[in-house]
Amino acid sequence: MKVIKISIPGFTYDVFIGNVLTKLINYVDFQQEVLVITDENVYNHHFHKLIEVIPIKHVFILSKNPEQDKNILMYEKCVDYALKRVLDRKLTVIAFGGGAVGDFAGFFASTYKRGVRLINLPTTLLAHDSAIGGKTALNVGNVKNAIGTFYQPEVVLYHTPFLKTLPYIEFTNGFGEILKHDLLTNGVLFKMLLNDSFNLEDVLSNQELLDEIIYQGIFVKKFYIERDPYEMKGEREYLNLGHTLGHALERLYNLKHGIAVSIGIGFDLFLSDSSYILPYMETIKKLGILTSGYDLSLELIIDILKNDKKNRNDKLMFIGLKDFGKPFHLELTTKEFTVKFSEFMRLYL
Ligand SMILES: NC(=O)c1ccc[n+]([C@@H]2O[C@H](COP(=O)([O-])OP(=O)(O)OC[C@H]3O[C@@H](n4cnc5c(N)ncnc54)[C@H](O)[C@@H]3O)[C@@H](O)[C@H]2O)c1
Repeated sequence: MKVIKISIPGFTYDVFIGNVLTKLINYVDFQQEVLVITDENVYNHHFHKLIEVIPIKHVFILSKNPEQDKNILMYEKCVDYALKRVLDRKLTVIAFGGGAVGDFAGFFASTYKRGVRLINLPTTLLAHDSAIGGKTALNVGNVKNAIGTFYQPEVVLYHTPFLKTLPYIEFTNGFGEILKHDLLTNGVLFKMLLNDSFNLEDVLSNQELLDEIIYQGIFVKKFYIERDPYEMKGEREYLNLGHTLGHALERLYNLKHGIAVSIGIGFDLFLSDSSYILPYMETIKKLGILTSGYDLSLELIIDILKNDKKNRNDKLMFIGLKDFGKPFHLELTTKEFTVKFSEFMRLYL
């Protein structure tokens, strides 16, 4: 088992990684009500393991595609569910699922009766990112994460055996953010992946290695959120490596978040003239993160980028990375983006 302590002004909480589900009993007050928010897949695969540890009366279940339910309509249904059961301010919410469930349950916990206790039980690889740092969100219309709060959990229990039932595509999805965290430090994992005999299956079948990789990823996130907990100083923005282009691709082409971000990271390395661009693109191809045959429209991408919340003074904002662990802010005019992205598409996609 591994532990990381997150400390930001006013809040300290532990993130336990490994075989850690039974720790839940230490964080639940059996005199008070508990509401588990989950989705159908996680419920079917793993709910029986949860009730072996604590008794649960109240469960609110999102669909098998929880991203579609991360919205105000479903939020209202959840509030209604809680009110009908007369759940009061002493309620504990357990967010039991991936990033979509986590964002939804976190938003609910931060607003129900002006805020109730929150415990995160992440179940996807991508959630090594989303379950830490306190960002919660709902989508509104087709605008992703249009509303949200900062709200810290009391503990994060990352019971990694839950990951065994995750479909392979969700592993590659989560691995995009794992690689991002690795590049933002020392690129150790990236260098391992350059070795021809090393592949993603090796990582997935080795629980100890997987726990270590997750630990390293969370450690990088800790570093940035502790320096800039509310994204006010610009440092937490470095975690947006790959996200400017990534968010546009995710929205336009229905790509999974981590997969879109992986392509975005390639573009950021390209913009930064990094010598790692070619090995990076080859690596994400080898891992099955990057597939071929993208038919991308420059015009549509630019339309989305123009509304990116990170833009400043009419400039598009990217995160540059030339050497491991040394991110920087990078601004482009739309014209500069057009030239650079056309070249990137021609060379790498
Ligand atoms: N709050 C943050 O800081 C933050 C950071 C990154 C991403 N996000 C958000 O996270 C979301 C993406 O998260 P995600 O990739 O975890 O997606 P997800 O929550 O949609 O889960 C992906 C799929 O995996 C299934 N699943 C989850 N756990 C499983 C398990 N153990 N076994 C089998 N199936 C399982 C789910 O039912 C779903 O179909 C997006 O909404 C994104 O905006 C938030």
